[in-house]
Amino acid sequence: MECIKVKALLSSKESIGSVCVKGWIKTRRDAKTFSFIEINDGSCLENIQVIADTNMENYETIKKLTTGSAVSVRGEMAPSPGKEQAWEIHAKKMDVFNTAPEDYPLQKKRHSDEFLRTISHLRPRTNKYGAAFRIRSELSFAIHQFFHERGFTYIHTPIITGSDCEGAGELFQVTALNLENPPKNNGHIDYSCDFFGKPANLTVSGQLEAELLALALGDVYTFGPTFRAEDSNTSRHMAEFWMVEPEMTFCDLKGDMDNAEAFIKYVTQYIVSHCGSDLSLFARFVDKTLMPTLENIITTEFIRIPYKEAVDILSGVKDRFDYPVDFGSDLQTEHERFLAETHFKQPLMVYGYPKSIKPFYMRVNDDDQTVAAMDVIVPRIGEIIGGSQREERLDILEQRMTETGINLSDYWWYLDSRKYGSVYHSGYGVGFERLMMMLTGISNIRDVIPFPRTPGNIEF
Ligand code: 4AD
Ligand code: MG
Repeated sequence: MECIKVKALLSSKESIGSVCVKGWIKTRRDAKTFSFIEINDGSCLENIQVIADTNMENYETIKKLTTGSAVSVRGEMAPSPGKEQAWEIHAKKMDVFNTAPEDYPLQKKRHSDEFLRTISHLRPRTNKYGAAFRIRSELSFAIHQFFHERGFTYIHTPIITGSDCEGAGELFQVTALNLENPPKNNGHIDYSCDFFGKPANLTVSGQLEAELLALALGDVYTFGPTFRAEDSNTSRHMAEFWMVEPEMTFCDLKGDMDNAEAFIKYVTQYIVSHCGSDLSLFARFVDKTLMPTLENIITTEFIRIPYKEAVDILSGVKDRFDYPVDFGSDLQTEHERFLAETHFKQPLMVYGYPKSIKPFYMRVNDDDQTVAAMDVIVPRIGEIIGGSQREERLDILEQRMTETGINLSDYWWYLDSRKYGSVYHSGYGVGFERLMMMLTGISNIRDVIPFPRTPGNIEF
């Protein structure tokens, strides 16, 4: 008999008759002539209730089954008299794959997120983390659907690169050299002996390569892991995170912002429509304001203000911030959150940042002071998207690269894209984990990815 997933079983309109379910025991309690066993198979938040009769041949074994044990059940699907679920299974046969010892760490009580991080190998079995990781999967699908519906081509950009897109130097170096005894030339490491014949690192962004493909295929997007060796132990940063990066040809900053807003609204609506049961857990136990917040994101038009105006608003607020705000300083999370949570009480986009705080590839505005950059900022998180119109004018791009200390000859291939058939184009990068935080109300980025990579953490 083929097994059925609990999700399919519970959503079925009529009894399928004999069924088989395989999963892990959440709880078991004994009545006089029965054992009630709650089984979860990970397909959904809900468990399936199994009634095991004392007459079953291995009832003595069944009676000893503990939380966390793995079993297979065959039986008849029957309407459940309980209010919690439509169906239950009256067991005929139960096979035990493994009986979990009594020291199984996930007994039926609530554990702190901090504790669960120390058992990241088991936490996907909790209701909360199971729900989060299912939403992660649905969200990935929604992202592909959004771009696919709009005719974007999905591209794959390299993980190992020789460039530093953001120019922030937060690179993880990749080498095949023996670090105990590297080859040297005039006292310096001789990278000509390394795997690629020159220094290489893990990518911080797929943007530069995405631009090259956009200038051939039209609208494209890449969606993959990115790496930053920034040593900031915050609840919003990780060393390894996933980024969604669309790049659109014949698109200016306004088009970029329009697409980013449509993207956030689309995926939010998708998760609300498709992950109701998992979301309800977060709305009950993690963030009571989650559903109104998501509704607000879907229905209200995002505010759009120039950086200058954002600085004016923020400098009008006295003694509130740890970091000062004035024209030329980057907005800190506290400033972004003030704008989204206190001032506007909704998502917003800030655009036209000073060029001095932004990377070389952003298009310089006519004032020669600001660039066509934009950030999408949402309540409780701050920046969730960073994007810009790209500098398509070869001479200005070269000038900016020189100003920011970039060696032009290392980027000859990027410059070629401005030499041959250059067109105006724009794109942005969405922090996938920050999007997950927004959608679930989870406040620490370490809890929206199965195995977070942060300074000092690489256990699992
Ligand atoms: O603003 P960022 O640095 O932009 C770029 O990398 C551009 N090249 C994207 C593009 O235009 N194609 O990063 C984009 C987003 C941020 O808004 C944030 O949500 C997320 O990536 N992000 C991080 N998420 C988790 N941990 C980190 N250390 C992050 N750094 C950035
Ligand atoms: Mg940014």
